[in-house]
Amino acid sequence: MSMRPVRKAIIPVAGYGTRFLPVTKAMPKEMLPVVDKPVIQYLVEEAVASGITDIIFVTGRGKRAIEDHFDASYELERTLVERDKRDLLKLVEHLPKLARFVYVRQPMPRGNGDAILRAAHLIGPDEPFAVLFGDDLIDAPRPALAQVIAVFQKRGAPTMALARVPRADLSRYGTIAGSRKEGRAWNVERIIEKPKNTAAIREPLAVVGRYVLTPGVLVALYMAERTLGKDRELGITDGLARYVRDQPVCGVELAGAWYDCGSKIGYLAANIAFAKKRPELRTALNRMLKH
Ligand code: G1P
Repeated sequence: MSMRPVRKAIIPVAGYGTRFLPVTKAMPKEMLPVVDKPVIQYLVEEAVASGITDIIFVTGRGKRAIEDHFDASYELERTLVERDKRDLLKLVEHLPKLARFVYVRQPMPRGNGDAILRAAHLIGPDEPFAVLFGDDLIDAPRPALAQVIAVFQKRGAPTMALARVPRADLSRYGTIAGSRKEGRAWNVERIIEKPKNTAAIREPLAVVGRYVLTPGVLVALYMAERTLGKDRELGITDGLARYVRDQPVCGVELAGAWYDCGSKIGYLAANIAFAKKRPELRTALNRMLKH
């Protein structure tokens, strides 16, 4: 059982973002702003606040803006210094120092499981690692990934984030069957990806895109890939569903509000919720929404 600290996070960002066309035609969906920060920055900040020091982006063609965002921008920073815009400088100059960034490519968007395997060689033999999906923003007093890591550290098994959703929404997500352990922790017995028949599912718990995994799950992913063939998309769930057949897997019901920014309505909701947290926007926004 591996109890090493979780220091590396894999963030798959190679997806096309077709649900947001046309804006995502020439721009990565991960760069869409929530208020004035790209979605991907919220993820990186959450990971860093949870103890992550190394961020591995699994990227693809047309995603350069993400690399540039977490790089220094010499001309911009120099201009801001010359114009004495220290407050604006503060918003950008720390970005390259947030973590050690690594970029690997996923030549074809063949699913989030395939994306994780593109980074498998960067994970040590006994090393647990985090995975974050860019569509999920969680507003929580304790960072969502830190909540997942805490359960992983306690139980020593791969752990995924869960959130209660209206039953009608369940078919859009992964879901689980299992039993509740103490507090918010769950013992996961089965994982079902985007179930068609949701009536039979006892607890309407959706899998949220925050995981702590172990190299054992990578092995399960490789085995799933071998069985399913390379023409089909490989999902993280294909690996976890196989792994859970004979090894423990945990879940944790997140404390906090989850916004699925992969849907337009979730993205709009996130913008309103995060704008309301800004003292300089709150009053004007509330007034505007009332009208
Ligand atoms: C992925 C996972 C799914 C999970 C979801 C959360 O799905 O496969 O189990 O519920 O992320 O965002 P995707 O959004 O890639 O379809």
